[in-house]
Amino acid sequence: MSAIRPLLRYQNARSRLRQPRGLASSVEPLRNSPQAPPPGDDHVRIVEVGPRDGLQNEKKAIPQHTKIELISRLARTGLTDIEAGSFVAPRWVPQMAGSDSILQHILTSPPQSPGPINFSFLAPNARGLKNAQEVLKLHTLDASNRNTIEISVFAAASESFSQKNLNCDIATSLERFKEVIQGAKAHDLRVRGYISVVLGCPFEGRDISPQRVAEIATNLLEMGVDEISLGDTTGMGTGPSTRSLLKAMHAAGIQNEDIACHFHDTYGQALVNTAVSLEHGIRIFDSSVGGLGGCPYSPGATGNVATEDMVYFIDSLGMKTGIDLPALAEIGEWISGEIDRSNASNVGKAILGSRRRRAGESKL
Ligand code: HMG
Ligand code: MG
Repeated sequence: MSAIRPLLRYQNARSRLRQPRGLASSVEPLRNSPQAPPPGDDHVRIVEVGPRDGLQNEKKAIPQHTKIELISRLARTGLTDIEAGSFVAPRWVPQMAGSDSILQHILTSPPQSPGPINFSFLAPNARGLKNAQEVLKLHTLDASNRNTIEISVFAAASESFSQKNLNCDIATSLERFKEVIQGAKAHDLRVRGYISVVLGCPFEGRDISPQRVAEIATNLLEMGVDEISLGDTTGMGTGPSTRSLLKAMHAAGIQNEDIACHFHDTYGQALVNTAVSLEHGIRIFDSSVGGLGGCPYSPGATGNVATEDMVYFIDSLGMKTGIDLPALAEIGEWISGEIDRSNASNVGKAILGSRRRRAGESKL
């Protein structure tokens, strides 16, 4: 995508000339618009965020070997994207301290996997990128390592959330990200740009302007991010609000290929919102094995939609993820046990339950 970014920027600029941002949501997407995926586009890319988003909120320190084991097990399932850690201030998110040794492990002992994996790490500022680069400098990816490393910045769609999560306003955060994005790009690293609370904020409520989200996304794309992940941090999103947001993104000239959706399942709407997004043409979704997680700065928000539930849902539509669902179900059960939580994946529990039943019957 990055090769054609200048072209897209031009296209975005043109569409902005034709379509003032303030009126973005009043425009219906065209039926056969270039946004619609070509027929047969039935592949969905899943970004597994369990090792980062899933674990970051756990109060009890999780041993490094458990985090590494989680990543290694996930790598064997056919996943192509795993968010592995976070270069944030340990005082803010203690559980992510030690992400440097996770990155080092990935570089020096690449987990076995059926294909190359893109491993991503959050970095909110130049300090975060510098810490990641210190490790990357010492252990460059050699030719035998087919994996890639990605850096993610994370903005917010509300001022209150930006203050709580990043200790600065949105404009300042974007200014800081510029340096992170340029620094990462200078080292040929792919960059993802999250926008949190796009469908509801724990402090400002549901009234988040989709046009404002599209404006922040456009800023991030123009700074050079390769992909935007729209974060429904609170899980307050509904089918209609998801649709309005994606329409606003389209009206701002943002391509579906540049958008991922990141639904937390606090209100049980994540798969409904996924269905709406699929219908709109989105083909990248974030999810967390076992439904692990929550954001430390979004009180009450629960985990991402479980990867097992997401894969089962996509399979049921006849679409493809390339991911081994029974293997995922086992990982969800295992990691939930390791961190003393109950498994939050309905599909995971159903698969394991029916396996246990069959094993019991065969013994009779
Ligand atoms: P601050 O306190 O304003 O930072 O926090 P500061 O620059 O004043 O520095 C304070 C201390 O932190 C200093 O150390 C810095 O060196 C250190 P001291 O001198 O006091 O010993 N520091 C760092 N250390 C390590 N790595 C760094 C770093 N930066 C500063 N990168 C800051 C500003 C951005 C650092 C802080 O607010 C922060 O780390 N925030 C991260 C919060 C977070 O990780 N939230 C969860 C991830 S976002 C999320 O989950 C949402 C998402 O899933 C999508 C969705 O669901 O919506 C992505
Ligand atoms: Mg999240």
